[in-house]
Amino acid sequence: MAPVSLFLEWPSRPGQNPEDWAPKNTAEATANIDKWYDAGVPLFSRESLQEIQDRLQGPLKAGDMIKVKGMDGEVYQYKVKVGEKRSSYCMDIDPETGDGSETEQLVHYVMGLPIPKYTPIQHLKDNLTHGSLESAYCSLSIANRMHCLDQHENSLDRLEDSLELFNSSKRAWEQSDSWKQIQTTLSTVRLPTKIRKIVGMACGPFAIQSAYPGVPRSAVQHAFLLTLKKYLMENDMACDEIPCYAQDPAYTEADHRVLGTYDIEVVDDPRGFLELDHDSVLFCCAPNIAVKQVVTDIARPAILIWCKVEDADPDPEYRYTDPDSSRVRKMINEGYDEFPFPDDDNFTCMRIYVIRRGLGTEEVLNNGEDSGVIT
Ligand SMILES: C[S@@+](CC[C@H](N)C(=O)[O-])C[C@H]1O[C@@H](n2cnc3c(N)ncnc32)[C@H](O)[C@@H]1O
Repeated sequence: MAPVSLFLEWPSRPGQNPEDWAPKNTAEATANIDKWYDAGVPLFSRESLQEIQDRLQGPLKAGDMIKVKGMDGEVYQYKVKVGEKRSSYCMDIDPETGDGSETEQLVHYVMGLPIPKYTPIQHLKDNLTHGSLESAYCSLSIANRMHCLDQHENSLDRLEDSLELFNSSKRAWEQSDSWKQIQTTLSTVRLPTKIRKIVGMACGPFAIQSAYPGVPRSAVQHAFLLTLKKYLMENDMACDEIPCYAQDPAYTEADHRVLGTYDIEVVDDPRGFLELDHDSVLFCCAPNIAVKQVVTDIARPAILIWCKVEDADPDPEYRYTDPDSSRVRKMINEGYDEFPFPDDDNFTCMRIYVIRRGLGTEEVLNNGEDSGVIT
């Protein structure tokens, strides 16, 4: 599958030079980030995501600016570059193994529409050591997508094969022991609310293209969304008919079509996040954006099915894309019960987290959805 490439540029501030606003040094920036984080200032606020969503839905042209508040409460702006062309040297990636080649080749890109960029707390602080003080407080920022000009493949050429890949993956999943075990687990769950929607985040494109054989694992993850929806509806855990949304910027046109056949609506970033509220389910396996930290700042979904939340951060040298944080752990420990998720090659080490009923639930919901600050 073709990875999503992003072009990042430093932000600007109207009428100011970076020296006017950038913290003096790494120590000052680190101290401020720690102080605000400990005080509950969100890295990602629902309000900011909604403003970005509103901007991305309107007409955008190269040179337009998108404004986003930093963690310091100041407004930073990012230039839209849609249509601009760039070239850079890149490694060839083996689609089977993900390994890069030893030689690099010149690749030509055209900039696509802007997309939000989420920097988790660990990376925000790591980045300071690379000298990027002018964006020190920009946990939420804007990047431009890059589309390779040398790829002319039409994913719809193999639409029938992709549909068959999805159907066979779905049949296998429906019959699997893993799905049986999950149903047994779900039968023990007591929810404080009926589920009104399911959001599948970063499930990955699965459609077949000539250079890519298709990804059954991603097809299974989407099939899981469908079986989950059916189970919740049949067992009176959901409203009559509930929508199912999927957000992953790497979907091809063929992925869109296949998912549309099953009433899974593909949504652009950040709408998938904005759909999350207390009567939703979020499923997300091994994303390469900071889903846990975004969700923790903006919502308290009734069910979270995502990679196990560990008791401590991993070794800082092991940089990864969806890190837990003290805030994620607090949300899970204080507000959710953990249920098992079977070992299955189609998923990484997952858990099912169900929001706790009774004492504390209301405060957790209110903090997550209404206030700008997480306490
Ligand atoms: C390592 S892959 C995991 C795919 C699949 N869930 C799996 O377990 O094999 C990470 C996925 O995150 C997706 N991703 C990247 N940015 C995203 C965004 N802004 N919103 C949703 N998904 C995103 C990528 O396109 C990719 O499909």
